[in-house]
Formats: sequence, C-alpha cells, structure tokens
Amino acid sequence: MSRIVSGLRRQPVILLAGLVLVVVLVGGVVSRGTAVAQDQPLDYSHQTHIAAGMDCLFCHSSATRSQIAGVPSVQKCMGCHETITPESESMQTLQGYWERQEPIPWERVNKQPDFVYFSHQPHVNSGLACENCHGDVSSMDQAQKSVEMDMGWCLDCHAQQDEAIAPHLWDCVVCHQ
Ligand code: HEC
Ligand code: HEC
Ligand code: HEC
Ligand code: HEC
Ligand code: HEC
Repeated sequence: MSRIVSGLRRQPVILLAGLVLVVVLVGGVVSRGTAVAQDQPLDYSHQTHIAAGMDCLFCHSSATRSQIAGVPSVQKCMGCHETITPESESMQTLQGYWERQEPIPWERVNKQPDFVYFSHQPHVNSGLACENCHGDVSSMDQAQKSVEMDMGWCLDCHAQQDEAIAPHLWDCVVCHQ
C-alpha cells in the first residue's frame, strides 16, 4: 500500500520534471533560432561592403595567422571613407571617431569563456570558410550569432575530421589548456 502511495506521489514530480525539460528544450530552440542583433556604436553593414566586392580577410586579416580574426581600425575605414562619404548618420559618427582618434567600441558578438582555447589560424588554414561557423555574413548588416558555439558544436565538427586527427581533436587539453 505504502508503495502504491509513494508511486502515485512521485507521478506529479515526474510530470513536473518532464514539463521543466520541455520548457528548457523549447526555450533553447527559440533562443537559438532568434538572432538578436547587438547594440553597436554605428550601423555598419556587412551586406553593403561585401556587395561592393570586399573579401572577409581584407578586414579580418589576422584570421590566417593568429588566434583572433580582428576588427579593422578606423584608419582602414577612412582609407575609403575620406572620399566615399554617403550622407548617413552613421557616416558622421564614423568621422567623429576619426577626428577624436578613438577606436570604435564594437560589442563582441561571439565570445568563448576564458577557460576555452580557440584559434582562428588552424581552422582558416585548414580550408574552412568563415561561413561554416559564422553563417551567411554577406546577407547581414551587423554581424549576428548564427549558432550557439558550445562544446557539442566544436566536438561534432572535430569528430567529422580525418581519422588520423579526429581523436586528437577530442582531447580535452586541445580546448582546455
Ligand atoms: C569593410 C570591412 C569588413 C569586411 C569586408 C568584413 N567585415 Fe566582418 N566586421 C567588420 C566590422 C567593423 C565588425 C564589427 C561590427 C559588427 O559586429 O558587425 C565586424 C564583425 C564581424 C563578426 C563578428 C565579430 C564578433 O564580435 O564576434 C564576424 C563573425 C564577421 N565580422 C565576419 C565577417 C565575414 C565572414 C566576412 C566576409 C563574408 C566579413 N566579416 C567581412 C568589418 C568587416
Ligand atoms: C571553426 C569555426 C570558425 C571559423 C572557420 C571562423 N571563425 Fe570566427 N569565431 C569563431 C569562434 C568560436 C569565435 C569566438 C572566439 C573567442 O571568443 O575566443 C569567433 C570569433 C570571431 C570574431 C571576433 C573575435 C576575433 O577573433 O576577432 C571575428 C571578427 C571572426 N570570428 C571572424 C571570422 C572570419 C572573418 C572568418 C573567416 C576568415 C572566421 N571568423 C572563421 C569560430 C570560427
Ligand atoms: C574599400 C573601401 C571601403 C572600406 C575600407 C570601408 N567602406 Fe564603408 N562603404 C564603402 C562603400 C563603397 C559604401 C557604399 C557607398 C554608398 O552607399 O554609396 C560604404 C558604405 C558605408 C556606410 C553607409 C552605409 C552602410 O553600409 O551603413 C557606412 C556607415 C560605412 N560604410 C562604414 C564603414 C566602416 C565603419 C568601415 C570600417 C570598418 C568601412 N565602412 C570601410 C566602402 C568602404
Ligand atoms: C566546422 C568544423 C569545426 C568547428 C565547428 C570547430 N573546429 Fe576546431 N578544428 C577543425 C579543423 C578542421 C581543425 C584543423 C585540423 C588539422 O590541423 O588538420 C581544427 C583544429 C582545432 C584546434 C587546433 C588543434 C591542434 O592541436 O592543432 C583547436 C584548438 C580547435 N580546433 C578548437 C576548437 C574549438 C574550441 C571549437 C569550438 C568553439 C572548434 N574548434 C570548432 C574544425 C572545426
Ligand atoms: C573541441 C573543443 C573542446 C574539447 C576537445 C573539449 N571541450 Fe570542454 N568545452 C568546450 C567549449 C567551447 C566549452 C564552453 C561552452 C560550453 O559550455 O559548452 C566547454 C566547456 C566545458 C566545461 C564547462 C561546462 C559548463 O557547463 O560550464 C567542462 C567541465 C568541460 N568543457 C570539460 C571538458 C572535458 C573533460 C573534455 C575532454 C573529455 C573537454 N571538455 C573537451 C570545448 C571543448
């Protein structure tokens, strides 16, 4: 008898746990599906610049030789925008940074926690395109997060690599040094 009672009592708990799980899963899917634009200091558009023929590495040139891809300096922007000056509000904001000789305080979009080691160099040099990890940036204005870059995401792709290297790429110390 007491067994049946405790069995019955447990049911709502299981039901509740199931409900929480569903809420967490659905919440996860929804938050992953919605790309939330960052609040950036000016309305720079990737779409406009890439449509004008610029390559990713023209502005993110560190990606082939260091951990970071890097963001271009104001000087790089002014290389064109001293002469190309669309009369937008953001163009005036850009000129303001230039005159004050201040870097543009862009908000980071993709950021790993400090205990994770990631480097662009091996990835870009192994032939992976930026789009594999960052989505179709050429159709974005401000860059947006395209995937949740969690451990499962890293490991999934590492598992798909050549047999000779995949086990090494699953070694904890590769990413947690
Ligand atoms: C004319 C220069 C320029 C070009 C060309 C360019 N970018 Fe960017 N990129 C920027 C600037 C400025 C930012 C910072 C503003 C922002 O986040 O949108 C940025 C930000 C990014 C970010 C977000 C960085 C973060 O904080 O996580 C990614 C990802 C990115 N760019 C990828 C690309 C890819 C992929 C291409 C090529 C398809 C590309 N960019 C071409 C200037 C450029
Ligand atoms: C294998 C996946 C992968 C590829 C390929 C990749 N990135 Fe990234 N990118 C990341 C991750 C992960 C971060 C966050 C890194 C961190 O916080 O340490 C990031 C961050 C960035 C950032 C902001 C921080 C920084 O490094 O300056 C920019 C800009 C960027 N990527 C641009 C690019 C461009 C341009 C390319 C192609 C040349 C590219 N990425 C290719 C995964 C990738
Ligand atoms: C190689 C030349 C070149 C470089 C470098 C360049 N731009 Fe541009 N930019 C252009 C062109 C071309 C346009 C489109 C002009 C038009 O609409 O008539 C443009 C348009 C713009 C605009 C107005 C429209 C929009 O896209 O929002 C802003 C703001 C802007 N750029 C900001 C920047 C910033 C910030 C940088 C540096 C990170 C930069 N540009 C680097 C060529 C360049
Ligand atoms: C789209 C596929 C892909 C994704 C996603 C990916 N990687 Fe990689 N990773 C690779 C490839 C390919 C290599 C290069 C293997 C080689 O050297 O041939 C590599 C190499 C590395 C290396 C260098 C290993 C070494 O010892 O040379 C590190 C570190 C690394 N990845 C960390 C990460 C982290 C952290 C993430 C997630 C934030 C991640 N990777 C996501 C494909 C990926
Ligand atoms: C290819 C890269 C990669 C490898 C290999 C890897 N990790 Fe991670 N790990 C990550 C990333 C990225 C994060 C941060 C994002 C997240 O929490 O999923 C992380 C987070 C973690 C966390 C924190 C989780 C949390 O919720 O805060 C632990 C613990 C961890 N890893 C342990 C390990 C162990 C143990 C191994 C080896 C069996 C390992 N990792 C191998 C990339 C990796």
